[in-house]
Amino acid sequence: MNNLLANGTVLITGGAGFIGSNFIPFLLNKNPNVIVINLDKLTYAGNLKNLIEINAHPNYTFVEGDICDYSLINKIFKDYNINGVINFAAESHVDNSIDSPSPFIKTNIEGTFNLLEVARKHWKGKEYRFHHISTDEVYGSLPEEGYFTEESNYQPNSPYSASKASSDFLVRSYHHTYGMNVVTSNCSNNYGPKQHDEKLIPTIIRSAIKGLSIPIYGNGKNIRDWLYVNDHCIGIDTIYKQGVAGETYLLGGNNEFDNLTVAAKICEILDLKIPKIKGSYKNQIEFVQDRLGHDFRYAIDASKISNELGWKAFEKFESGLEKTVDWYLNKYQS
Ligand SMILES: NC(=O)c1ccc[n+]([C@@H]2O[C@H](COP(=O)([O-])OP(=O)(O)OC[C@H]3O[C@@H](n4cnc5c(N)ncnc54)[C@H](O)[C@@H]3O)[C@@H](O)[C@H]2O)c1
Repeated sequence: MNNLLANGTVLITGGAGFIGSNFIPFLLNKNPNVIVINLDKLTYAGNLKNLIEINAHPNYTFVEGDICDYSLINKIFKDYNINGVINFAAESHVDNSIDSPSPFIKTNIEGTFNLLEVARKHWKGKEYRFHHISTDEVYGSLPEEGYFTEESNYQPNSPYSASKASSDFLVRSYHHTYGMNVVTSNCSNNYGPKQHDEKLIPTIIRSAIKGLSIPIYGNGKNIRDWLYVNDHCIGIDTIYKQGVAGETYLLGGNNEFDNLTVAAKICEILDLKIPKIKGSYKNQIEFVQDRLGHDFRYAIDASKISNELGWKAFEKFESGLEKTVDWYLNKYQS
């Protein structure tokens, strides 16, 4: 068991984004002695309002900066005596990676490399932990049947997933070459509060309540395995503390739905919460041109983390989705 997450000083990168800004308050609440340094570049995807609840927390410090900036990371390691890293920072939107791959190569690959290099320099002979947050998209696309496991081959299909795959390999290599205490977790699609407006579920909710068409790619049959962000936070905490060095863990929500079904479920929740004068929000669903190279299906077999570390996702999709809708209604209607 690694006690450094409970008592140490952890550098969290990308903590102003969706998952990071759910994770930091979770971590501080759970571990009164942990010190958190949140390094975030505040790209369009980062939002400090997501962290308002812990802004004045005595154990929390925010640093605005880039994970690609070697001297800044070096200074942070020195000034704060960093003894753990959880690397959330990334360019994360597949559509953006198709339009403009370059920032994905820079942040996701070079940025991760930079963090590893600084950690290698400062942590010689130390057992400090480097936890890399990655995606199931590195494994490519599944047909109707089958699941990704930790043994699946890497077959990334988009510039985003290829950049994440490259970063996973770099992290792996720092364990095999330098003996660094790394763990990597690859999760399925997260949903919940604080996600950027650009992503599927916020887009469905926002479009619906604004009376706009709800855009669904292709025929809406692409399948994702939805993981509630709080379940993911518990999983990250578990892996950081108990995961075996050099290992990879897959996390999924066991909630496989195609995009059209997700949109329909959200519309049904909205029909009950804020009924339209006439008809259902479902009438606003509109199929739009498919994403280039759109992966058909992602689905996770989370047996390894369940058997070895005792984690599994608890949130049912219906309850998680209702909480999520409530959060965005509050955001978009206020
Ligand atoms: N959201 C998902 O469904 C999902 C699924 C699987 C894996 N992941 C992975 O989880 C991690 C977090 O995802 P997210 O959804 O919270 O992403 P996000 O886009 O919401 O947040 C990313 C954060 O990283 C910051 N950032 C970007 N470039 C940076 C840089 N060069 N230096 C410092 N900070 C930088 C942004 O400002 C933002 O706050 C990513 O590594 C992503 O690949 C996400």
